[in-house]
Amino acid sequence: MKLSQYFMPTLRENPADAQVPSHRLMLRAGMLRPVASGVYTWLPFGLKVREIVAKVVREEMDASGANEIFMPMVQPASLWQETGRWDKMDAELCRIKDRHDNNFCLGPTHEEVVTDVVRKSLSSYKQLPVMLYQIQSKFRDEVRPRFGVMRGREFMMKDCYSFDVDEEAAMNSYNTMKDAYHRIFKRLGLDYRVVKADSGAIGGDLSEEFQVIAETGEDELVFDKEGDYAVNVEKHDAETCGVPAERLETKRGIEVGNIFYLGDTYSKPMKAVVKHSDGTERPAIMGCYGIGICRTVAAAIEQNHDENGIIWPEEMAPYQIGLMNLRVSDDTCTEIADKLYDSFRALGFDVLYDDRDEPAGAKFTSMDLVGLPWQCTIGPRGVKEGKAEWKNRKTDERFELPIGELPDALQAKAKAAA
Ligand SMILES: Nc1ncnc2c1ncn2[C@@H]1O[C@H](COP(=O)(O)OP(=O)(O)O)[C@@H](O)[C@H]1O
Ligand SMILES: [Mg+2]
Repeated sequence: MKLSQYFMPTLRENPADAQVPSHRLMLRAGMLRPVASGVYTWLPFGLKVREIVAKVVREEMDASGANEIFMPMVQPASLWQETGRWDKMDAELCRIKDRHDNNFCLGPTHEEVVTDVVRKSLSSYKQLPVMLYQIQSKFRDEVRPRFGVMRGREFMMKDCYSFDVDEEAAMNSYNTMKDAYHRIFKRLGLDYRVVKADSGAIGGDLSEEFQVIAETGEDELVFDKEGDYAVNVEKHDAETCGVPAERLETKRGIEVGNIFYLGDTYSKPMKAVVKHSDGTERPAIMGCYGIGICRTVAAAIEQNHDENGIIWPEEMAPYQIGLMNLRVSDDTCTEIADKLYDSFRALGFDVLYDDRDEPAGAKFTSMDLVGLPWQCTIGPRGVKEGKAEWKNRKTDERFELPIGELPDALQAKAKAAA
């Protein structure tokens, strides 16, 4: 992508109203623009990262046997009345009316809709298990939308729902999803922990959260440095964990994913039943599994940035190489940089090419800000010697290479792709 043709309005100054690094950096790097409180437009650069997260999530959901569907954002009150949540939920549930005075809500989650689909389509236990997911906008009228897309009102979620014959099969589905979540957050290159959680409004009795470790996280986590024990601090204070105090460590985390065992909380009141081999009809046993797609992008930035900007984990980087032509008015520089742009792309790399007629300092500043793993600079001095300057954004390692040659790490990737 050539910057001269890219709508990526970067900001030099920190926006005054952004309190956390990810919010500041997403605004400054031209990823986002606010529309209303907790409601954002994603600009091309931000959208590209979000699509990478969605792609990884989609691949791992498909690989785990879940089927993608797409449910409406607008949901009839009648379904929510069946489970009692129409009255139980507070103002976070955004209630609306159509022209005929019928009640609807903007979906904050989709248990009711998906359970309705399943109950109308299934009759026998032989048709289970069923796992359905979607990647879609949610609306929750949060009391305090804050930290940009970390806690928005409209946001993208991957939500998945499992339906099984009994508790044991439902736990299998739960564990299949848990494995998929591990693969997703590993693939995204994030440092995270799985913590036991209270299941809150969704109901049921087992729930775990996937938490990305970051100093700015809203949740305080306590975990065993040598074992599996990991919980939210409130839960830790309320129970005895049996782990010696010196082995416990505290860190802050951002909840990016949440998995729940639901039992028959929804299937029973909604009569989503299947006929078993003994002839009895019993409710399907459910689980639900969410990942905040927008929040994952923000959490990655909270975990990976410095005073100059974002440092994308390789796996999430929207472009692997940021190519800079320092002297657009110099025909040789431009000819070489244009050629490199084509050849890097031919090797399978996504390249962001700063081909604008701007001062070198401004180019370096904005390339650091947007945080691509590798920077390749072409300037008049290097061109005379037949060299390009490379910089690794994360390690700050800088070196010169003959023009057209790749750093080892990229060389290996180019080969792997060939
Ligand atoms: N207001 C929000 N803004 C952005 N992402 C959100 C928001 N609320 C929830 N999410 C994301 O969706 C995932 C699933 O949501 P869920 O666990 O149902 O919400 P909560 O933890 O707020 O009860 C969360 O782990 C989080 O990543
Ligand atoms: Mg949650």
